[in-house]
Amino acid sequence: MPGRLEGKVAIVTGGGGGFGKGIAAKFVEEGAKVIIADFVEDVGQKTASELKCEFVRCDVTKREDWQNILKVADEKFGGLDCVVNNAGTTYRNKPTGDVTDEDFDKTFAVNVKSLFYSAHTIVPYLQKKGKGGSFVTIASTAGIRPRGGLTWYNASKAAAINGTKSMAVEYAKDNIRFNNICPVVGLGTGLTDLFLGKPENEKTFMATVPMGRGSSPRDVANSAAFLCSDEADFLTGIDVPVDGGRCV
Ligand SMILES: NC(=O)c1ccc[n+]([C@@H]2O[C@H](COP(=O)([O-])OP(=O)(O)OC[C@H]3O[C@@H](n4cnc5c(N)ncnc54)[C@H](O)[C@@H]3O)[C@@H](O)[C@H]2O)c1
Repeated sequence: MPGRLEGKVAIVTGGGGGFGKGIAAKFVEEGAKVIIADFVEDVGQKTASELKCEFVRCDVTKREDWQNILKVADEKFGGLDCVVNNAGTTYRNKPTGDVTDEDFDKTFAVNVKSLFYSAHTIVPYLQKKGKGGSFVTIASTAGIRPRGGLTWYNASKAAAINGTKSMAVEYAKDNIRFNNICPVVGLGTGLTDLFLGKPENEKTFMATVPMGRGSSPRDVANSAAFLCSDEADFLTGIDVPVDGGRCV
């Protein structure tokens, strides 16, 4: 049976590790050609060779890096169908009064400005091709059910969710779909430790998740593959909480 992403070309930002690596692996299994776009070259390159993907060094906060990924997709694969905006960052959980200018600027640049550049660069290309496309934003439960200690991270994810929905409406006429995935805290991916603040907070946090655990790269990847597949061709502007019931 053909994979549900057979014949599609996908970019996964931050695909070197964590959720992004899980998403890239699932997309390859489902038949997609995947470009891992990450700013850590050795890790990104290693993951790409392991998963048989293309690697492009890219800082998602730089417009020219987005132009370069698009060039690779077009020249190497002759097109592009899906963009998974997964690369993200945070500062360590702390009182909001202790957040620095640098923490704030980095969080908004990586989590929000990257979406602006991805759409600015890729939407006109998809419109010209006329075959539609699918964008998935890896947001967070933090963007819909915020808690203290991560105020400006939460706000960056709320902005990401809102911007993604807004584009869903604006580009529906071009059949370019935009959806959000909102994972609950991850099971040991790169940022998990920063969200929890201290390792001893893990048990208390997990007790607030009805299904009693954090989200795995596979949990997030399964939803991303579905949203990018043709089975989801009438879904746009939605948020999928991958959270074991936390946001109920
Ligand atoms: N881990 C969690 O608990 C959790 C929960 C909810 C949502 N999220 C979101 O999921 C996404 C992935 O989180 P993760 O825990 O897998 O992170 P991670 O740190 O394990 O992986 C993130 C990847 O993004 C890359 N990256 C970071 N900044 C980049 C930039 N400017 N340009 C290109 N690549 C960059 C890193 O090199 C890394 O490979 C993020 O958007 C995060 O906000 C994470």
